[in-house]
Amino acid sequence: MDTPWKSAWIIGASSGLGEEISRQLAAHGCKTYISARRVNVLDELSNQFDNSTPIKLDITNRDQCDQATKKVIAENGSLPDLIIINAAIYAPMNVETFDPQKIADMIDVNYVGSANIIDAIIKSDNPTNSITLATVTSPSGWRGLPGGIGYGPSKAALINMIEGMTPEMRERGFDMRLINPGFIKTRLTEMNDFEMPQLMEPDDAARRAIKGLMSNKFDISFPNPFILKLKFLRLLPYKLFFNITSRLTQKK
Ligand SMILES: NC(=O)c1ccc[n+]([C@@H]2O[C@H](COP(=O)([O-])OP(=O)(O)OC[C@H]3O[C@@H](n4cnc5c(N)ncnc54)[C@H](OP(=O)(O)O)[C@@H]3O)[C@@H](O)[C@H]2O)c1
Repeated sequence: MDTPWKSAWIIGASSGLGEEISRQLAAHGCKTYISARRVNVLDELSNQFDNSTPIKLDITNRDQCDQATKKVIAENGSLPDLIIINAAIYAPMNVETFDPQKIADMIDVNYVGSANIIDAIIKSDNPTNSITLATVTSPSGWRGLPGGIGYGPSKAALINMIEGMTPEMRERGFDMRLINPGFIKTRLTEMNDFEMPQLMEPDDAARRAIKGLMSNKFDISFPNPFILKLKFLRLLPYKLFFNITSRLTQKK
């Protein structure tokens, strides 16, 4: 696989999907900058490649987002050709386990944290030569689903923000993308106690994400047919929609 990018910054690269995307890009010669909070894990990963640089970052901290962006530009000479905002946290939640603190935490990382890093990128005043800026969201942000009542809204807000920004960001030279994977076997889904259709291994999901980024698709959603069913769910009137989602909450 030849990638069209000389350099990439993966934010949320210490495990799961982000780690695999970082590995695959680095293995194909792309210079990678890898960020997350667990710097020891990033160090281990970057030691496996000549072309990988760890940059510690907590995206909930705006100063850290600014500093990390400056560091990437200083090391790379410019913003990388590809930036993937992948960092997120997850807590399963239903009405019985409803927890506003966990909701605030997910909004803080998944939505506001992503906004912090986008802000740092926009402010960096760096000339942009068609930088691909991809954000990893989730089909759970498409419509309110039982079990995801804290996480889903954080991704729905993120999707909405990216959609709203895309026309102006394109004018500024950013090639905007959304990556919407189905279930991936990572530490996030380890928390789920329900059957996850078409559960993907992280390396498979990473390959699909990179393939999607190499196309010109804005919406990189996979795998089918799972994703098509969720897209269909988006179109249903409430009566039919609740008929279906009510079945998900029925006690086994
Ligand atoms: N797994 C799925 O089924 C699935 C499905 C749809 C979408 N997604 C999305 O895919 C992305 C990757 O998730 P994953 O399943 O691979 O989970 P994961 O293994 O937990 O990866 C999440 C990454 O985000 C980083 N992160 C979390 N909070 C951060 C913060 N405040 N600042 C910087 N980095 C932070 C984590 O690193 P540190 O803890 O070291 O900071 C880690 O590298 C997420 O956006 C998730 O919402 C996952």
